[in-house]
Amino acid sequence: MGIRFEHVNYSYNAKSVTPQIGLNDFDLSLTEGKFIAVLGAPGSGKSTLLQHFNGLLLPQSGDIHILDFHIKAGDSAKGLGKLRKRVGLVFQFPEQQLFEDTVEKDIMFGPVNFGVPEDEAREAARRAVEALSLDAEILARNPFQLSSGQMRKAAIATILAAEPDVFVLDEPTASLDQASREELLLLLRRLSTEQGRTIIIVTHRLEEVLKYADEYVVLQQGEAVFHGTPAGLLERTDLLDAAGIQVPASVRFLREFCQRFGVTPPDGPLGAEEATAFVAESIKNKPM
Ligand SMILES: Nc1ncnc2c1ncn2[C@@H]1O[C@H](COP(=O)(O)OP(=O)(O)OP(=O)(O)O)[C@@H](O)[C@H]1O
Ligand SMILES: [Mg+2]
Repeated sequence: MGIRFEHVNYSYNAKSVTPQIGLNDFDLSLTEGKFIAVLGAPGSGKSTLLQHFNGLLLPQSGDIHILDFHIKAGDSAKGLGKLRKRVGLVFQFPEQQLFEDTVEKDIMFGPVNFGVPEDEAREAARRAVEALSLDAEILARNPFQLSSGQMRKAAIATILAAEPDVFVLDEPTASLDQASREELLLLLRRLSTEQGRTIIIVTHRLEEVLKYADEYVVLQQGEAVFHGTPAGLLERTDLLDAAGIQVPASVRFLREFCQRFGVTPPDGPLGAEEATAFVAESIKNKPM
């Protein structure tokens, strides 16, 4: 079925003399079930794009097809409840996602709202915090008294518990420590590989998603200027530079290593651990 954006335009303060372009005649076609990373400089339209996936923002012109929904300019926000049940969005700023007086109520809110019985929703909340390695005691805490990393995880738990088909996450690894970032990305990767869920994630750290993402989208001034494979992306150093994204050290190191020692480069881009293993294997097979 796929997810398609066709000529979507969205500007903030559209009727003012100084509109801010969010999406500009935006076209994009994604395959369901993939892990997709969205990159781009600050202000390039990433958050604006993500809020269109579940109808939080509606296009001012153009069409969006997602699952079996068709969203178009002029649609009313009514009827989007069903879409929001199947497309979960984690906001860039978690405090915008949390509003109850306990974490448990916040996490249960979605499932209960979508018709899940309370005891099942409570159990889903418990499983969601456990999946993110949070202590169960956090469920009774006030979300606004948590550390920024805990608050981020609580916001992510709200969509995990709702079990959507499409997970849309706006910089979910910001404010998480390295171990939690890895754990979250692995969890999302599994949701995609084992359960066929679609994962769409904004990040500024290409290095951290390198071993998880199937496809990349790069935004510039409200347009998708790249959509393709990891290998294709790493060829486009111009786009990465413009987005302020560094080619990961492991990739630069491998390129240098293969060039200097005449080793055939690996097929795809490799993260730090795989790059180390590749070099170790190359040295073993071909003494230098
Ligand atoms: N609420 C708003 N009111 C007015 N303009 C806005 C608003 N939100 C975003 N914009 C403008 O829309 C454009 C796209 O912003 P958006 O937040 O989508 O970018 P982003 O790629 O998510 O940036 P960042 O990396 O900083 O999160 C920018 O020019 C921004 O200034
Ligand atoms: Mg943003």
